[in-house]
Amino acid sequence: MLPPIPALSDYGISPTHGFLPDSLPLTRLPDPYYNKWEAVVANLQALILSRRLRGVIDRLPILSTIGLEHDAEWRRAYSLLSFMAHAYIWGGDSPSDRLPPPISIPFLQISEKLQVPPVATYAALCLWNYKPLFMDEDIDNLENLATLNTFTGSLDESWFYLVSVAIEARGAPIIPLMLTAITAARQNDSATVTRCLRAFAERLTDLTAILQRMHESCDPTVFYHRIRPFLAGSKNMGEAGLPRGVVYEDGSGNENYRQYSGGSNAQSSLIQFFDIVLGVEHRPTGEKQEPGSESDRGRRPSRHNFIQEMRRYMPGGHARFLADVTQVANLREYVEDHTGDSQLCIAYDACLAMLSAFRDKHIAIVTRYIITPSREVRARSRSRSPEVARQRMNLAVASQKKENQGSRSQKGTGGTALIPFLKQARDETGEPAVEEWTRRFMKRQVRTEGRGDFFLGKPHDGAPVDTEDVEVKGLAGSWTMEDDVGGICLY
Ligand code: HEM
Repeated sequence: MLPPIPALSDYGISPTHGFLPDSLPLTRLPDPYYNKWEAVVANLQALILSRRLRGVIDRLPILSTIGLEHDAEWRRAYSLLSFMAHAYIWGGDSPSDRLPPPISIPFLQISEKLQVPPVATYAALCLWNYKPLFMDEDIDNLENLATLNTFTGSLDESWFYLVSVAIEARGAPIIPLMLTAITAARQNDSATVTRCLRAFAERLTDLTAILQRMHESCDPTVFYHRIRPFLAGSKNMGEAGLPRGVVYEDGSGNENYRQYSGGSNAQSSLIQFFDIVLGVEHRPTGEKQEPGSESDRGRRPSRHNFIQEMRRYMPGGHARFLADVTQVANLREYVEDHTGDSQLCIAYDACLAMLSAFRDKHIAIVTRYIITPSREVRARSRSRSPEVARQRMNLAVASQKKENQGSRSQKGTGGTALIPFLKQARDETGEPAVEEWTRRFMKRQVRTEGRGDFFLGKPHDGAPVDTEDVEVKGLAGSWTMEDDVGGICLY
């Protein structure tokens, strides 16, 4: 007996908004009992700037979660506490390795209820943190979106989150569409499978177009130095000042340090859903495809890698949905069984090509927003005194500090190179292609790193291009900058 096709409602997934909630995120908690949380987050930037945030949070009462009724209220509370927690940890001259009971106690309870870790995840920052400007317009349009909360109050930060919201909203119809395709493949209905795949490929191009708009209103320098430091987690954060992680004080005197990855779009269930329905498999970083395994029928179950690990940071229902869709995903096999059906094969390959193109654009973005600024920091730190470099301790200065220590042997805990990881994920996207020419096309070398492109300038413009072993903090992960490092992800 084949497992049943998952029903979206069993996993808290909306047929129209996908992984975004069915009802819009609340703009504030209705019960005035929670006004103090709302007030802190409404004044977050001023409290951070005046260095008063920690004092204010330390003096907050420990609020009970008993007044939270509907799911939307729990989600709003989770988002508020995520912003407070990260602002508390990273919003001072040096990071705090403790979260006081007014945050940690309700945060732990709410996380347990929503089955998502007590850290600023993609759900807290993007999925549950937006509102439409006009209620009668769609939320898949960046011109109709606003954020509810930010750390910095900058347009750049809002834009960074909203690009993801628009991608989730525009991509949402693909979820029921592809479940229809899976059902049609079970019924050997090639016409429907082909139609669904074509619609999927077209919508993927829309998503890439939205991703490209990141450049419009999110400045890489602002992102790297002002926004990204607040998104950092507590895992592999020794260089940034949290060698053991963070203690979530619960009043019991328990001194257990916890370590979590920070918020990252790698925690988006949508992109992982695409991989699963198309049969794209991701190997541990550095591991090559085994020769002859291209059309291997009895494919091995997914092995552990960073992308898999990120499922632990998705809301519980969403992660369970991905696991259950994996059990029913049949399109790759279906296409492999119908290689004589050229319309079907072209439609399937088009989806892979479009998803690969999405990843190409994403690599260019990561280069512009993380790799290039990291190099600039490193170049600058060479000409600066250690005192200046030490003025503030956070994620943005972590690689600079490492440089000042001057020891190549002091590897950070991130042992995997960022760009090779992303390139591998891109290349794996093309592997299932059925048509020989599509496979060749996707294996071509794309100049995605922006060498000589409009946004990034020429290779030698400004930033040095050497790839010395410098640790680069991604968003959720911690990586090296070398181009040729592979191996097991450490994050
Ligand atoms: C300024 C914008 C962005 C930057 C700087 C950025 C950076 C990164 C980094 C550093 C990683 C590696 C994992 C980590 O350390 O967290 C990553 C992975 C990933 N990002 Fe982004 N990202 C951006 C925007 C987006 C957007 C808008 C999406 C789409 C929703 C996205 C989707 C992904 C996915 C799916 C991965 C996992 C790798 C893969 O599946 O190819 N990113 N990103």
